[in-house]
Amino acid sequence: MRISVIGTGYVGLVAGTCLADTGHRVICVDIDEERIARLKRGELSIYEPGLEELLTRNIEEERLSFTSDTGEAVAKSLLVFLCVGTPSLENGEHDISALMGAAEHVARVMDGYRIIVNKSTGPAGTTARIAARMRELTGHEFDVVVNPEFIKEGAAVDDFLRPDRIVVGCEDVRVLEIMRELYAPFLRTGKPFLAMDLASAEMSKLAVNAMLAARISVMNEFATFCEAAGADVSHVREAVAADGRIGAGYLFPGLGFGGSCLPKDVIACAAWAEKLGLDAPLLRAAAAVNDAALRRFIGRIRSFYGEAVARKRIAIWGTTFKPRTDDLRGAPALRVIDALLGAGAAIHAYDPVAGKKLAALYGDRIRVAAKNYDALVDADGLVICTEWNEFRRPDYDRMAELMRERVIFDGRNLYTPATLEQNGFQYFSVGRG
Ligand SMILES: NC(=O)c1ccc[n+]([C@@H]2O[C@H](COP(=O)([O-])OP(=O)(O)OC[C@H]3O[C@@H](n4cnc5c(N)ncnc54)[C@H](O)[C@@H]3O)[C@@H](O)[C@H]2O)c1
Repeated sequence: MRISVIGTGYVGLVAGTCLADTGHRVICVDIDEERIARLKRGELSIYEPGLEELLTRNIEEERLSFTSDTGEAVAKSLLVFLCVGTPSLENGEHDISALMGAAEHVARVMDGYRIIVNKSTGPAGTTARIAARMRELTGHEFDVVVNPEFIKEGAAVDDFLRPDRIVVGCEDVRVLEIMRELYAPFLRTGKPFLAMDLASAEMSKLAVNAMLAARISVMNEFATFCEAAGADVSHVREAVAADGRIGAGYLFPGLGFGGSCLPKDVIACAAWAEKLGLDAPLLRAAAAVNDAALRRFIGRIRSFYGEAVARKRIAIWGTTFKPRTDDLRGAPALRVIDALLGAGAAIHAYDPVAGKKLAALYGDRIRVAAKNYDALVDADGLVICTEWNEFRRPDYDRMAELMRERVIFDGRNLYTPATLEQNGFQYFSVGRG
């Protein structure tokens, strides 16, 4: 099939590349011309494990190409995927203006029948609104499909190639068969293809994110209880995760969830509920507990140093919102850095892949280390914000030698408190007595 993908961010680039890998001819479009120029040279615009090899192969085999010309791409495609960002408006709702803009552009350049597949996240009714607006702009026939994306950054290629399920909201049986055929190569292990109406498909995405956010927030609430009651949330988590009714994912307590999806989708859903005259107490609570977890973590660092924080040099390990991505959007580390900078501390940060982005974001307000131990030189404390693998078993002797004060604030519970104590560190983690 001939496919165009509008938006080459984390979702569009992964979707376009993986679809090309099953034999389709895919043209990816972006309004960011620099991004397109880099992609044409085979240079990734994002860090995503496994993507580069797939991208290069599919460019070489002429199944995958890039353009900033929406008209050129749409002219050659039956299916047009919309994968543009839907960030938060000031009131918390999804800002679907870029998505609507992309759809309007497609409508203006369409020269015949097209299937418009919306992968961007928005409230139920978004795709119906897109269809209504497109009908105002074009006389050509088209169908719309909702196909929410459930990939996780850091494992996005694997998630796309081996999804837990495919959700398709669609009103036309022939279009549904086309979507079924498109996804058949990814569902050979028997995972379900779930067909439903447009609004239910949109709602499914929001419900999944709400559920994941709530799980983390429940564990963060228990982390607070554990601290007060002298219990260890790591043991509690293991007991909870072993329950077959619950499972192990998204139960790790810490400094809270971040990223470009969970926080904004939970808040947007709550704001949208309010607009509908409904209450969404659980969603609001999930967001509030998450915010409180981060504030508690920052508060612990601040109260440890007191006013003297202004004379301290603090090392940060990990700045992305999760490991195996370079995405800094909504990363808790940025709030930690901002709070410590605001209190006058000097920051020396290290991240395995986001160093350049971090330097671009903060300029000379922070120092960005090229290697993890470099960040520790003369540090008065280390704050761990992301659980990159390389931080899990560090050389404690080397750390102790490099640091001025042996203090670690661990937002991801990577270490055993007794081990750190034996190595002469003051160690603060989350929810452990
Ligand atoms: N990032 C994730 O892990 C993830 C997972 C599931 C769903 N989603 C949802 O998917 C959508 C896209 O997310 P993302 O993280 O890929 O966003 P992103 O910001 O990484 O990428 C969006 C891209 O769209 C481009 N764009 C904007 N307007 C355009 C237009 N008119 N024409 C062509 N390109 C245009 C931007 O330049 C950008 O490159 C969002 O709704 C998000 O909530 C994201």
